[in-house]
Amino acid sequence: MTAKITWDSSFETGISEVDAQHLRLVEIINSLVDAIGHADKNTLKGIVEQLKEYAQYHFRTEEKIMAESGYAGLAEHRDEHAMFVDQILLFDLDVILASEGLAWDMLHFLRGWLTNHILVVDKRFAVQLQA
Ligand SMILES: [Fe+2]
Repeated sequence: MTAKITWDSSFETGISEVDAQHLRLVEIINSLVDAIGHADKNTLKGIVEQLKEYAQYHFRTEEKIMAESGYAGLAEHRDEHAMFVDQILLFDLDVILASEGLAWDMLHFLRGWLTNHILVVDKRFAVQLQA
């Protein structure tokens, strides 16, 4: 069984910039799956740092598109992003990445949050934008 995210059309929002960035986030998470249990702690840390930075960059892009379109759900959506960022900034990577079990726990959280966010929360916006 693979822990990777398989990208398929169900992930597409129809907003090309957002879809390209979501695909990149999925690729970073999948590279973390490949690395856990194989790569050294610094390599793992680099991938998680990359994910943190790219996620924040991506959230700014999404929030900008939402603001420009006058999306009524912006504040709520921004809160979801902020809670995720707060959570990942709290991760003590030196502790987590020293344990393969904890690394997998973190991976499952990241994967679960991201897939649910794209499939449910981002889709809610995409449907309204295209209405
Ligand atoms: Fe979002």
